[in-house]
Amino acid sequence: MSPDELRPTYPITTERLLLRPLTAADTEALLAYRSRPDVCRYVPFLPMTPEVIADRLTTYWSATDLTDEGQSLTLGIEVAETGQLVGDVILFWHSRKHRGGEIGYVVNPEFTGKGYATEAALAMLRLGFEDLGLHRIVGRIDERNEPSARVLRRLGMRQEARLVHNELFKGEWSTEVDFAMLADEFSARYPDPSRSA
Ligand SMILES: CC(C)(COP(=O)(O)OP(=O)(O)OC[C@H]1O[C@@H](n2cnc3c(N)ncnc32)[C@H](O)[C@@H]1OP(=O)(O)O)[C@@H](O)C(=O)NCCC(=O)NCCS
Repeated sequence: MSPDELRPTYPITTERLLLRPLTAADTEALLAYRSRPDVCRYVPFLPMTPEVIADRLTTYWSATDLTDEGQSLTLGIEVAETGQLVGDVILFWHSRKHRGGEIGYVVNPEFTGKGYATEAALAMLRLGFEDLGLHRIVGRIDERNEPSARVLRRLGMRQEARLVHNELFKGEWSTEVDFAMLADEFSARYPDPSRSA
């Protein structure tokens, strides 16, 4: 299968979560964690202001579909039982030809340690592999970001590379660790119930 496009029906439901596009009503909840320096330490963005969040909501985060390579889909992670927005998760579509993508996730520290990041990231892997038809999805992290490495390992992603001091990141050299999973590996670990006999 060759990637065509991804047009999910929202909300995407998992055992405990709803994944859905972010809206202006999420501003306060987003600010609660995206403005925190500790949350931003190993991610590309700087602590966000309400203005930056407002701008993102009308630009990068306004996408609800993936229609071509180079695009990304950011979804809010809402706890189904409480309706609280506890984080967000992203799927990048890097290459149509190579059928490659990438995942990322951020969870409010008030809600970490509950498995929400892993549960949401698994849903994004499912979208990427089963619905978009990607062949390979990667996760790229700073080596010091151990909670994030644990998320990727829990998902069953394989550590493939350690790139020593390959980026000058926020004023210091960052050693990048790359994880990956192939479509075959995903379907073996997470069979699609709708496709079984
Ligand atoms: C990376 C990040 C998302 C990890 O969050 P997290 O809460 O540790 O990850 P999960 O949501 O998967 O939760 C897993 C933890 O919950 C625990 N847990 C508790 N109840 C659970 C349940 N019902 N199901 C699964 N795990 C559960 C697990 O044991 C695990 O703990 P451990 O990592 O100490 O072993 C978070 O630290 C974060 O947002 N950091 C800042 C942003 C960032 O760096 N993002 C990644 C960029 S590469």
